[in-house]
Amino acid sequence: MAEFTLPANSTVQPGKTWPVPAGAKRTKTFKIYRWDPDTGANPRVDTYTLDLDQTAPMVLDALIKIKNETDPTLTFRRSCREGVCGSCAMNIDGTNTLACTKGIDECEGDVKIYPLPHMPVIKDLVPDLSQAYAQLRSIEPWLKSETPPPDRERPQSPAERAKLDGMWECILCFCCSTSCPSYWWNGDRYLGPAVLLQAYRWLADSRDEAAGERLDNLEDPFRLYRCHTIMNCTKTCPKGLNPAKAIAEIKKLMVARK
Ligand code: SF4
Ligand code: SF4
Ligand code: FES
Repeated sequence: MAEFTLPANSTVQPGKTWPVPAGAKRTKTFKIYRWDPDTGANPRVDTYTLDLDQTAPMVLDALIKIKNETDPTLTFRRSCREGVCGSCAMNIDGTNTLACTKGIDECEGDVKIYPLPHMPVIKDLVPDLSQAYAQLRSIEPWLKSETPPPDRERPQSPAERAKLDGMWECILCFCCSTSCPSYWWNGDRYLGPAVLLQAYRWLADSRDEAAGERLDNLEDPFRLYRCHTIMNCTKTCPKGLNPAKAIAEIKKLMVARK
């Protein structure tokens, strides 16, 4: 059997345990991944305990409370607090999701919080999404049309517009791509489910006239065809979308044009 040894600096160490709030009757413990590139130290997991009677209901509320009242060095992204910006994507209790829409009461036992998996970490819970955004740029996610624009908007029938349902709702949180084993192993060349869902969003748009060019751009053993229909992406999407289906639709378009 093959044996693997992790480099010494990748081993996660036990971290600091912060005191339980005095007088708390209902408590919850949060175990949070910490890594600061400026210290040169190994990553660690710090333990914080909150008084639930003094904490708002979502996991993001707990992170904000810890940062405001206990440990200002804790670093994470967030913006909208409503599940629409995608910034607070992280791995909570083993699932990639949004901290602002995940209830603390949905987590059994201690709440374990890590950054999105298999991405370089900038600090603590903040992943480096540079590669994912470069991949998004590569599919040119904007309307491409040779037809001169009309005086007002380009019209669509209700049926044409309905074809975009299930795609326009994507908030580019990358929970799906970072749950996909194919993206873990080939993320430098495979575009991953988030970007491929965006690619199909433009292929399905009745106003777009660049389908041939878009398919040429995807016709590649790695960019599209590393999807092996494992379905982790669809299972984890916090917006209930189905990137695996979008990828299957692109593959059908590839076959149809042959
Ligand atoms: S498909 Fe879902 S999980 Fe993937 S980026 Fe969009 S909203 Fe996030
Ligand atoms: S269905 Fe495709 S994109 Fe989704 S997790 Fe599986 S391999 Fe990745
Ligand atoms: S803070 Fe915007 S999605 Fe969570």
